[in-house]
Amino acid sequence: MINKDVENAINEQIKKEEYSSRLYLQMATWCEVNGFSGAAKFLYAQTEEERMHMLKFVHYLSDRGGQSIMQQIDKPPFEFKSLTDVFEQVFAHEQFITASINEVYEVTLNKRDYTSGSFLQWFITEQIEEESTMSTILDKIHLVGNDKAGYFHIDKELESMAAVRTDAPIE
Ligand code: FEO
Repeated sequence: MINKDVENAINEQIKKEEYSSRLYLQMATWCEVNGFSGAAKFLYAQTEEERMHMLKFVHYLSDRGGQSIMQQIDKPPFEFKSLTDVFEQVFAHEQFITASINEVYEVTLNKRDYTSGSFLQWFITEQIEEESTMSTILDKIHLVGNDKAGYFHIDKELESMAAVRTDAPIE
C-alpha cells in the first residue's frame, strides 16, 4: 500500500498534468483561430502528451494500491497577446511543472518511498526535455523576430516538430 502523503502528492500532480493538457488545448485553439496552424498542431500533440503523463500517474497509483481522485480543474486562459506570449507562458508553465515534480520527489524521499522515487525519475528526465524544447522554440521566435515574416517561419518549424511528436510512440 502506498504511503498516504505520497498518494496525495501524486494526486495533486495528476491535477496539474490534467490542467497542462487543458491549457495546451486552449492555446492550440487560439493558435488555430489566429492562423498559426503549425503551432496549433504542435500544441494539440502536446495536449496528448500531457494526458499521457496524467495517465502514467493514474496507473502507477492503481498499481500501488492507491486511488486517483479527479479534481476540479481551473479554467485555463484563452486570450493571448501573440504567439510569443503563448510560448512564453508554455515555458513558464513547464518550469512550474518541473518544480512541482521535484516537490513530489521530495515527499517520496521524506517518506522513504524509494519505489515511488524511482518511478518519478522518468518525469524528472522528461522535464529536462520539456523545458529544453520550449526554451529552444522561444529562442527561435526571438531569433526570427516577432513580426509576420518571423511568425510564418516559426509556424512552419512548429508544424515539422508536431509531425515528429505525432510519430513518436506513446509510452
Ligand atoms: Fe507533463 Fe509538460 O509536463
